[in-house]
Amino acid sequence: MDPSALDILTHPHPVLRLKAEPVKTVDDEVRAVVDRMFELMDEAEGIGLAAPQVGLAMRLFITRDPDELTRGCVWINPELEVVEDTKESDEEGCLSLPGILVNVDRPQGIRIRGLNEHGESVEAVSSEHIARVWQHENDHLNGRLIIDRMSSMERLRNRRALRDLERG
Ligand code: NI
Repeated sequence: MDPSALDILTHPHPVLRLKAEPVKTVDDEVRAVVDRMFELMDEAEGIGLAAPQVGLAMRLFITRDPDELTRGCVWINPELEVVEDTKESDEEGCLSLPGILVNVDRPQGIRIRGLNEHGESVEAVSSEHIARVWQHENDHLNGRLIIDRMSSMERLRNRRALRDLERG
């Protein structure tokens, strides 16, 4: 696999609907994928990107550092736990669904555990916007997209963008 050949895939690419498989070993190949994903996320000015979005059904996603002090965070084989179940609604977009915005209800407080690109255990807790990003990206690892959560009004509002994507 040539990481430089990876690119962002859009709906309705079938890999976006797969349940991704755990990463067995965090090795140089995984790190090369991560590097390429950061390039793609930055080019697209995204705030998160999951491996299935570049055609790899692996349990791995990256997020942008909101303060831009680092290149961002890497979460491999992430496990999410709700620590504050108050639901909040906010508008979400997705690099695999250009032109589409959906209001999504999500629990506010999340604990995330996983591995970083060096294979070390990492953990974080947040009730900030990043907790929403973790949940959005984790949905990608389970084949879920924000269009699965549209209300009938949103389906109507996004009808044209969705149809254009589905026609290719
Ligand atoms: Ni997305």
